[in-house]
Amino acid sequence: MSQPDTLKPTSDATSLGLAPPPKLAFAMVGLPARGKTFIARKIARYLSWLGHSTRVFNVGSYRRAQLGRQHHSFFDPRNEAYVVARRDVALAALDDMLAYLGGNGDIAIYDATNSTRERRALVRTRCFAQGVEVVFVESICNDQTIVETNIRATKARSPDYEGVPEEDAVRDFRLRIAHYESEYEEVGEDEGPFIKVIDVGRKMTLHRIQGYLPARVVHFLLNLHIQPRSVWLTRHGESTFNVLGRIGGDAPLSDAGRACTHDLARIARGRFGSRVQVWTSTLRRTIETAEILGLPFRSWRALDEIDAGACDGMTYAEIAEEMPHEFEARKADKFRYRYPRGESYQDVIQRLEPVIFELEREREPVIVIGHQAVLRALYAYMMDRPPRECPTISIPLHTIVELEPTAYGCDERRIDLAPAPLDPKRFRQNVG
Ligand code: F6P
Repeated sequence: MSQPDTLKPTSDATSLGLAPPPKLAFAMVGLPARGKTFIARKIARYLSWLGHSTRVFNVGSYRRAQLGRQHHSFFDPRNEAYVVARRDVALAALDDMLAYLGGNGDIAIYDATNSTRERRALVRTRCFAQGVEVVFVESICNDQTIVETNIRATKARSPDYEGVPEEDAVRDFRLRIAHYESEYEEVGEDEGPFIKVIDVGRKMTLHRIQGYLPARVVHFLLNLHIQPRSVWLTRHGESTFNVLGRIGGDAPLSDAGRACTHDLARIARGRFGSRVQVWTSTLRRTIETAEILGLPFRSWRALDEIDAGACDGMTYAEIAEEMPHEFEARKADKFRYRYPRGESYQDVIQRLEPVIFELEREREPVIVIGHQAVLRALYAYMMDRPPRECPTISIPLHTIVELEPTAYGCDERRIDLAPAPLDPKRFRQNVG
């Protein structure tokens, strides 16, 4: 017996009508403290979220694991024994990366300084021998304030300097940079495809960037910045469909939903005044929520709730009763399951890509008033959670999920909304 269409897996990029993912390596290039790890992790998070098996291979971690913490003199290129030791560590990471790409991995990011032509030639030769395409991503930062902030925010706190007074750590790290500067060569056009990110995206130079994924990554990198700001994810106030346990639809808010939204309005205004971007879907329940907030808002179709297709407007009990095959198929694989004439979580992620780009680009705080499935997908991106976990992430009604991007991740805090006056015990701390 043939399976109904909705039971067929929609597992990977191929199922979305795209060519099979290429084996691709992005090799970082740049002096220390130029944000290479920040960029590497961002690229990895973005591509993993889109469904590609992606991993970062950070040579610094290999060095610490194999050789422990090192004084700046370890990075002096005149010291031959150390040059060999550093090369060995870099090659161990490269071997692991190639083993990963030779197996299930689609894309890898080789996070190292790769600061000489010689080292980059070695990386390219080894990758080519295994049929892996290489794109160099060079971070050039001439703005000393950014470099200094980066040293203090990340390097002086790295495991390399655990227990070392901050000023000593900063001094040692500056000397480490000087060693690299003495032999640093920028990537040249004869070295193959490259993306140069100058002063955290103020300027970008591209060379021979071809193909779908490298072009997506360029587009993604164009929007990155390091300015701190908050992103709030919150569902619309309770709707009359929520009260009835019905999914989808375009119902208005319930009385309780309106009451809690007033609490949201009060907290948001107290926190941001009017200096905040408010985004909604095109559905009535999110628009009514934004109207109570009383701030200008922008409605995105991409933020509409997962399309339940033939099941729209039903309760879960009705689906189980009237369409048991569909109910069971969703239970078996909620991430890939696509409602008949509707969407899967995987589909939702693909259509949210422009929202992610805008979220990355926005410098003001953003309040996203959305829906359960859509906010799960955005949360998974922000918190770097595997996309497959999306369907089980908890995003309850009447809760603000406050996310603050940090150097390499995101801090999280949840605030419960209620119609009653604010009680400090309602704040829950939760760092991810
Ligand atoms: O029940 C509210 C709702 O937003 C529905 O409209 C939507 O179908 C559902 O949540 C998504 O959650 P789940 O994937 O857990 O069914």
